[in-house]
Amino acid sequence: MLIKRPSDIKPSEITDESVWKSRRDLLRGGAAAALGITVPSIMSPAMAQQIKLPPFKKNAAMATDEELTSRDAVTGYNNFYEFGLDKRDPAKFADMLKTRPWTLEVTGECENAKTWDIDELTTAFDLEERIYRLRCVEAWSMVVPWIGFELGALIKAAKPTSKAKYVRMETLVDPKMFPGQTPSLFGSSLNWPYVEGLRIDEAMNPLTIMAVGLYGDVIPNQNGAPIRLVVPWKYGFKSIKSIVKIEFTEDEPRSTWNVSAPREYGFYANVNPEVDHPRWSQAKERRVGTIGKRKTLPFNGYGEQVADLYANMDLTKFY
Ligand code: MTE
Repeated sequence: MLIKRPSDIKPSEITDESVWKSRRDLLRGGAAAALGITVPSIMSPAMAQQIKLPPFKKNAAMATDEELTSRDAVTGYNNFYEFGLDKRDPAKFADMLKTRPWTLEVTGECENAKTWDIDELTTAFDLEERIYRLRCVEAWSMVVPWIGFELGALIKAAKPTSKAKYVRMETLVDPKMFPGQTPSLFGSSLNWPYVEGLRIDEAMNPLTIMAVGLYGDVIPNQNGAPIRLVVPWKYGFKSIKSIVKIEFTEDEPRSTWNVSAPREYGFYANVNPEVDHPRWSQAKERRVGTIGKRKTLPFNGYGEQVADLYANMDLTKFY
């Protein structure tokens, strides 16, 4: 995020190819449908590891009716610094990550600390498909059909103590699977593990989900397999990927981007068109795969559900 400003991103990087590829997919799918056959796509790491998603329901009440961003754009252009700094690196190196076996440790200020096996976790809670807008701090946004369960359900199972005021989350550290975690001649891009956090009431909000799938299938590695956070009213960097640990804490966690550039990235990171990033405006955004810009909405359009969480807080100070 520190590396490229929105103006540095060539429109061809995010628009032309995704439009072109989704057209290609449509054509391929259409021709196949006409012939009544299913087209096999290139085998993904999840397919190679024989990972299947448990059944899930579509939650229409939690779905925006905006047009979906193409799957190719969602999976081919994103930030995941553990794989590298370039937005093509996550897709390029994705199959280095092995997501089985995988455990998620839930610990800290709670009565039921537990280390969950990922497959036990995905069957223990109700999976739903929810179509959310997600807006990156770099002023581009996407509309994605996520599949996941409410983080609130996992938190209730853990029974946090009265001291638990925040949840702190960590991504896996393993340079053999994440080439970006090996320091280069110029040092490390970020401090590992990638850490994010939420206030406990933000984490309990029904909009906050732990995603294990997208577009009807197992989540691709570059999007944070096998399990990641999705908080749609906050800038994308809050939505931490490939999580191995969730800890209930009394104090506000030090999150990765806040530590690395405190003037640019705050702990709250609520989408706010009125608070500029020090190096660019947050008033507008480019929807990946479309032409032109649109106005950014406060809380990314989820104000009705979440604005109350921040009543009486100065959101220019708690950015
Ligand atoms: N999680 C980890 N572990 N490492 C990262 O570099 N990047 C963040 C977030 N989660 C990141 C991460 C940023 S800056 C964004 S915009 C989103 O992931 C983008 O990923 P997505 O397009 O798959 O949602």
